[in-house]
Amino acid sequence: MTKTWLITGTSSGFGKELAQVVASKKDTNLVAAARKMSDLDYLDQYDSSRIEKVIIDVTDQSEIKAGVSTAKEKFGTIDVLVNNAGLGYFSTIEESNMDQVRYMFEVNVFGLANMTKAVLPIMRAQKSGVIVNLSSALALTTLPTMGFYSATKYAVEGYSDTLRQEVTDLGIQVMNVEPSGARTDWSGRSSNKVVPKISDYQQFGDSISHVSDSVTSSPGDPQKIAEVIYNQVENNEVIPKHLPLGQFAYEGGLNNLENLVSEIKSRQDISLSTDD
Ligand SMILES: NC(=O)c1ccc[n+]([C@@H]2O[C@H](COP(=O)([O-])OP(=O)(O)OC[C@H]3O[C@@H](n4cnc5c(N)ncnc54)[C@H](OP(=O)(O)O)[C@@H]3O)[C@@H](O)[C@H]2O)c1
Repeated sequence: MTKTWLITGTSSGFGKELAQVVASKKDTNLVAAARKMSDLDYLDQYDSSRIEKVIIDVTDQSEIKAGVSTAKEKFGTIDVLVNNAGLGYFSTIEESNMDQVRYMFEVNVFGLANMTKAVLPIMRAQKSGVIVNLSSALALTTLPTMGFYSATKYAVEGYSDTLRQEVTDLGIQVMNVEPSGARTDWSGRSSNKVVPKISDYQQFGDSISHVSDSVTSSPGDPQKIAEVIYNQVENNEVIPKHLPLGQFAYEGGLNNLENLVSEIKSRQDISLSTDD
């Protein structure tokens, strides 16, 4: 059966790589969403009968509605929604600019939720579907200066885990992808950076000043990540709930979760003492 994928944020990074993987398959339709049509010219080399380009800024409800309707009109279904569009933010908690932080939440959390809300009625009607949310290794563990970014991705995790409980019986699966640092535009043009002015936080200054270097030096290969996401969705009847990718996500995530489990267990008596 020909599946239709709708992917947000396909102008660069993981979204662009995944769009190319999907576009190159003979039996898959692609709805590629971006904020600027000209960013999608790279798709012109593929079979245009299986590709629809749509403009979606995930903070714009009318663009979400129009993009999802166009996808449904063109291909009749949306089988896989990939909520990929997202921003980063590098700052200590105390020195973060709350307007910038709110906007990141608009994109990373509410944008993802609004896309999902627009697609769920289609998936419920067809009694099948897969929702892939680009979370982060920083939703499995945390690092200084990444607090508000982590907060958006931890929100995505809580949201997704609950959504899964509500829609599994309706034939809809939800997968959170938790990549480690990868060579995309995320730490460059897609992130605001606030170099600390407060002397108590000077120790974090260098890492924030050099963060854009990770555009080229991060270990994660976006093409490999896109292939893994595609294969997990297409080749599994039961799709993973979580997909940590890269050493930091795997080891850092496990280490943090194991510490959490042992901390919770160590105070079992106190935890269980507060119920009547
Ligand atoms: N790279 C990493 O190290 C890493 C690790 C873990 C998770 N992630 C997550 O992976 C996802 C993709 O990021 P990436 O690494 O591929 O970075 P990227 O190359 O910077 O791509 C970000 C994408 O999001 C789009 N976007 C930003 N704001 C948007 C909005 N309001 N509406 C619609 N699209 C918007 C961008 O579009 P424009 O071109 O129009 O700005 C771009 O297509 C993000 O959710 C990110 O948090 C990244």
